[in-house]
Amino acid sequence: MHDTPPPEFVELLDVVRGYQRSRALTVAAELGIADLLADGPRPADDLAAATGTHAPTLYRVLRALASIGVFSEDADRRFALTAMGEYLRRDHPLSVDPAARMFGAEYEWRAWGELAHSVRTGETAAVHALGTDVWEYRRRHPEHGEIFDATMRTFSRADNAGLLAAHDFGRYGTVADIGGGTGAVLAAVLSAHPATRGILFDQEQVVADAGPVLRRAGVADRVDVVPGDFFDTIPEGADAYLLVRILHDWMDEEAARILRGVRAAMAPGARVLVVDAVVGPPNEDPAAKSLDLMMLVSVGGRERTEAEWTTLLTAAGLDLVAVTRATPNKHVIEAVRV
Ligand SMILES: C[S@@+](CC[C@H](N)C(=O)[O-])C[C@H]1O[C@@H](n2cnc3c(N)ncnc32)[C@H](O)[C@@H]1O
Repeated sequence: MHDTPPPEFVELLDVVRGYQRSRALTVAAELGIADLLADGPRPADDLAAATGTHAPTLYRVLRALASIGVFSEDADRRFALTAMGEYLRRDHPLSVDPAARMFGAEYEWRAWGELAHSVRTGETAAVHALGTDVWEYRRRHPEHGEIFDATMRTFSRADNAGLLAAHDFGRYGTVADIGGGTGAVLAAVLSAHPATRGILFDQEQVVADAGPVLRRAGVADRVDVVPGDFFDTIPEGADAYLLVRILHDWMDEEAARILRGVRAAMAPGARVLVVDAVVGPPNEDPAAKSLDLMMLVSVGGRERTEAEWTTLLTAAGLDLVAVTRATPNKHVIEAVRV
């Protein structure tokens, strides 16, 4: 017997209870607590008054978050932002606030509640839970669409430096960002390469919000914004076709359809640049493997090993020519027409 519980037991229980922290963080994000602390520490009662919440209960949530470093608490029950908590501010360029509100949104919880359904049937949990896929769900609930797009902007900003270091985009005259969201990746690419032009392609209601992102980066005059469905048409004539966090949203059949459309649109010498995870060996790479579960539950897609990428690209008439790590869990997978 042990005097204290064995570390493996403690660690496993911590995994079991992981959702409780996540939930607390989402509630703090929904209440905008980090923004209320932007000018300095405030007492819990003050925060409760500002958010219209039950003071003793808000205090318990905040002290739990302070115990894991999101906020700090002093002896007078005043809370302040920590280095970690700063990322919850909505005005932070790498704000985690939209991610906290998206992953903690009620529709995501319903989807994750159906993981066992996915495991029994192989079906997408979100479709089972919501009666529609998440893209359609977000079209019907634009407020969730906006939170999703903001989450993608944060992810892009976090990954952009690694992406630009991993691949020389300066060699392309025109880069088409397919499923480019509100343009955060393309803005970074074009800012770094003033002679390159861009095409931003995504769903109509998504590219509608791209203007401010492109203007802030000073690249709007070099971008053609094209709304559309990547299962129908892909804009022609670019030298590079960038697909960032796109193909992992889809199973092989749909992913190959998107790639075939890109292949048909591209000039013979053009490149396809897929930016996604490349799943590592057994017992490693928890980031890609948990992202893979997210794809399973939420969108009905998957992360892929290098062998699986090769198979998928081959099925679309493309040859994988290089794989370069851009960030700890994102690679640039380069392909050309066979
Ligand atoms: C995971 S996000 C990635 C966004 C962006 N590439 C990034 O990394 O920030 C997937 C994108 O695919 C877009 N998308 C989904 N279905 C689409 C379709 N049928 N046609 C065009 N875009 C689509 C979504 O609107 C979303 O912007």
